[in-house]
Amino acid sequence: MIVIKFGGSVLYDLHPSLIEDMRQISLNQKMVLVHGGGKEVTNIATKLGKEQRFIVSPSGIRSRYTDKETAEIYTMVMSGKINKIIVRMLVEKGIRAVGVSGIDGNILKAIRKTKLAVLNEKGRKMIIEGGYTGKISSVETSLLNTLTDGGFLPVVSPIALSENYEYLNVDGDRAAAYIAGNLKADKVIFLTNVNGLHLDDKLVRNLTSSQAKEYLPKIGFGMEKKILASTEALMLGAKEVIISSGKVSNPITCAINHVDCTVISN
Ligand SMILES: Nc1ncnc2c1ncn2[C@@H]1O[C@H](COP(=O)(O)OP(=O)(O)O)[C@@H](O)[C@H]1O
Ligand SMILES: [Mg+2]
Repeated sequence: MIVIKFGGSVLYDLHPSLIEDMRQISLNQKMVLVHGGGKEVTNIATKLGKEQRFIVSPSGIRSRYTDKETAEIYTMVMSGKINKIIVRMLVEKGIRAVGVSGIDGNILKAIRKTKLAVLNEKGRKMIIEGGYTGKISSVETSLLNTLTDGGFLPVVSPIALSENYEYLNVDGDRAAAYIAGNLKADKVIFLTNVNGLHLDDKLVRNLTSSQAKEYLPKIGFGMEKKILASTEALMLGAKEVIISSGKVSNPITCAINHVDCTVISN
């Protein structure tokens, strides 16, 4: 089983060989795809007159502030526009893709964060109302297994239901990590617009989970979530995580063969 996460950045800038590469590999590997698309959510929200606000946690993780209207826009754009663009792209090339949101078949349950610790402009810690974001609390894999057993490739959008059945925005990287961990995936591939984690201007080719945690404060926005998600995937039972570029020729084959990428394992 391979779990792949497409960043929003990949969607609009992918290598033409990506889908055919996925098709080839999916012939003898079960695959689940999870996507992000935060930038598109921001674009559509702005067009709808809903300015998006971003917050930074004391540990340096940046995220969208999701009020009720934003949660609706997020659900609409992720499970509608973006999910269907990806499904269409895959189906067009002969892959039996099925788009599901994280709430279908109870895939993702999350606990609503009622309070959030954030840093203000002066770098001081403040507590604000949490809005509609959640920390994933459970993953039900039965729908995903049913689909992959039947030869389908599930394409999952990062939305979860709260204990009160509210839509919650969950981060795409972490959704992929939790799904991969619960599926005990052999590989989790974060396909993005850079070839992996860079430190001191150099690509980090290999790192352990504990090194990853240690480096976290030194890593910038975007990549910091992938590194955190990588440690979660490994902790939950995925065997190996790869962060690599979606802009190179045959990106999935390259990632599987550890060509020019970051590999994280326990
Ligand atoms: N240390 C780092 N190494 C590599 N990329 C980094 C680092 N710090 C920040 N980044 C940024 O993280 C981005 C990838 O994350 P993001 O933009 O969220 O992509 P995605 O849409 O795939 O989630 C890179 O384009 C890069 O600008
Ligand atoms: Mg991202």
